[in-house]
Amino acid sequence: MIELDTLSVTFAAGSALRDISLKIAPGDRLGIVGESGSGKSLLASCLMGMAPDAATLSGTLTIDGVDMSDADEETWRPLRARRVAMIFQEPMSALNPLRRVGDTVAEPLRLHFGLSRDEAAKRVAELFAEVDLPNPERRARMFPHELSGGQRQRVLIALALACDPALLIADEPTTALDANVALQVTDLLVDLSEKRGMALVLISHDLASVARSTERVAVMYGGDIVERGGTDDVLHAPQHPYTQGLLAARPDPQAALRDEQGKRKRLPTIPGNVPPLSGLAQGCRFAGRCALERPDCATARPVPHGPRMLLCPVVEGAA
Ligand SMILES: Nc1ncnc2c1ncn2[C@@H]1O[C@H](COP(=O)(O)OP(=O)(O)OP(=O)(O)O)[C@@H](O)[C@H]1O
Ligand code: SF4
Ligand SMILES: [Mg+2]
Repeated sequence: MIELDTLSVTFAAGSALRDISLKIAPGDRLGIVGESGSGKSLLASCLMGMAPDAATLSGTLTIDGVDMSDADEETWRPLRARRVAMIFQEPMSALNPLRRVGDTVAEPLRLHFGLSRDEAAKRVAELFAEVDLPNPERRARMFPHELSGGQRQRVLIALALACDPALLIADEPTTALDANVALQVTDLLVDLSEKRGMALVLISHDLASVARSTERVAVMYGGDIVERGGTDDVLHAPQHPYTQGLLAARPDPQAALRDEQGKRKRLPTIPGNVPPLSGLAQGCRFAGRCALERPDCATARPVPHGPRMLLCPVVEGAA
């Protein structure tokens, strides 16, 4: 259905995605994990045809067999809602504070399907019920600030579902939510994917929610997919040194998940930081932080190998 073939994205500061190849079939559930700055959101924006203006792209993106690599905005617009929809991290910034949430969700229904006001209101209530919002008609008349964080995220999911997309991309959909609500929202996404046969791409720092909700996972670092495979296999037996570091840096499940201000803590990471684009090595991008590094790692670009398409010549890459 959606296929990326050697997609690369470059900014003036350097290359942000390198030769990303990926296939997403109907009903697939794919997790994308990696530290901040590894290119997850940029990859998602490319799948939506929304790469930043400053980006130079190469490679191909095919949707339902149609090459969309050079498609203009007019070609993308109808596809965006109906084939590929996206939900973003911060529900508050994605909803108009002065608009009733039901009207926001009704808009694409009226625009894309030509529904009347009453028909759209009925469909909004159905969508709200589908995302488990209690009292759907009453909720539809509310403004965003009258809803809880979890309810606002459910409204955004309903909005993304309005045009019945074949693929839903959820970019960190639960970081603003507390742990229990986050779990419910993730489970809802899985239920919807199963019921509708809708593919789901879940971008998350939270390895536990990726483990719970996806069948395959791609691990990103410095604009590369360094390892990929079945979610259970990769998370239980990581092979790439970066994936191993990411899993080893997982917080103690007993440790507090919130800081003093009550904000959800991000995963602790591997020693060192993701360098800026201009500082990424030409060879393996993990060079400089890797315990197994060899002299030529920073200059020789690894070739993907083995069933996990490992980007590291030093590790064997068993199935
Ligand atoms: N418009 C832009 N102009 C220049 N560089 C950009 C732009 N958008 C993204 N980048 C760069 O691309 C890289 C990947 O960014 P991206 O937002 O995809 O990371 P991410 O994996 O989503 O991180 P996070 O987990 O923090 O959301 C970063 O180095 C970022 O600075
Ligand atoms: S190529 Fe070298 S630096 Fe990169 S992950 Fe493998 S051993 Fe580490
Ligand atoms: Mg991001």
